[in-house]
Amino acid sequence: MNKIFFFVAVSVIAFSCGPKQETMEALIKDRLDKSVQQYELMAASLADRPDKLPRTIDAEGKLLTTSSSGWVSGFVPGTLWYLYQYTGNPALRAYAENYTARLEKEKYNRGTHDLGFMLYCSYGNGYRLTGDTAYRNILLTGAESLISRFNPKTGCIRSWDNKKWQYPVIIDNMMNLELLFWASKTSGDLKYRDICISHADTTVKNHFRPDFSSCHVVSYDTITGKVDRKNTHQGYNDDSAWGRGQAWGLYGFTMTYRETLNPKYLEQAKHIAGFILNHPNLPADRIPYWDFNAPDIPDAKRDASAGAIIASALIELSGYVDETLSKTYLETAETQIRTLSSPEYFAEKGANGNFILKHSVGHLTGQSEVDVPLTYADYYYIEALLRYKNLKNDE
Ligand code: GLY
Repeated sequence: MNKIFFFVAVSVIAFSCGPKQETMEALIKDRLDKSVQQYELMAASLADRPDKLPRTIDAEGKLLTTSSSGWVSGFVPGTLWYLYQYTGNPALRAYAENYTARLEKEKYNRGTHDLGFMLYCSYGNGYRLTGDTAYRNILLTGAESLISRFNPKTGCIRSWDNKKWQYPVIIDNMMNLELLFWASKTSGDLKYRDICISHADTTVKNHFRPDFSSCHVVSYDTITGKVDRKNTHQGYNDDSAWGRGQAWGLYGFTMTYRETLNPKYLEQAKHIAGFILNHPNLPADRIPYWDFNAPDIPDAKRDASAGAIIASALIELSGYVDETLSKTYLETAETQIRTLSSPEYFAEKGANGNFILKHSVGHLTGQSEVDVPLTYADYYYIEALLRYKNLKNDE
């Protein structure tokens, strides 16, 4: 009895004296406010370079940039739009407009599948928040450029134009469908949506393994339309589960379910979530290693970008599933947000090249962008904070 009393007393004292965990509400407000300050510095730093957009930093911490044709060009404009949405601050809107305008010529770019990322994060958010019809027209021209890469024989959109593969399609490409779903809703022309459905069905059929992990690259034979090869480009090897690839798949199929309400895409998203959340190599803080099969786990690099994309996707997915799953998804997203919001990942004002998050991995096996800040980690982190905030407001 005395022992029990002692245990209870110690627990009560430890609980009441221990550091209080910040509420999610307070944490989200604080990190959004700090992110606004950080992105004001970021936007100001390239204010006189209209031909450039932020990409990452070098080993000395100096900002590295991309031209508008780089696949990451739309993320900083998109983050500026999200922060404008949060604050309503006209100065942030002016920055968002300025950085978005840098991408306009890409609406004619037929050389990449990444137009969805590039234009929908920038112009898409801009159109959503302002209703500017010029933005709408740019997005529709971009959607036309993107569907020029669809081949009915393979049933999907070609990702890259390079000689290593005949017709490479990467799991990341699911993300670019959001622009096309939007284009059908906006124009009333169903051809964009039909292409999305064909691409998503082909991806379900060929990209996924029995455990619902996905390979990175599937290349098709354009004569027969059948799979030619399955490989990786950014993962550890052809049979591994590249961290961000799993994140793109989860987000992509959650979004495809939202746009179609077809339960088979919801099932796919739940299966992908199951693979990620139940994986023995997912750390307790829920930020994945750059590859779930990296050989040097637990010393392998983490990828904050994958953590942010998964958090944002899980918050959305939690709204489409039963109460038990919903709770699991939200708890995971909360853990990810708390981890990314800790000093380990969340940069001090003015540090980290003015990016918000540290510790992402672009292409480890290519020795490019390893353990650095990346624009898309910031974009999906801010999106996750806003989604979580909206969810709680709705409740
Ligand atoms: N879409 C390229 C990447 O995720 O690195």
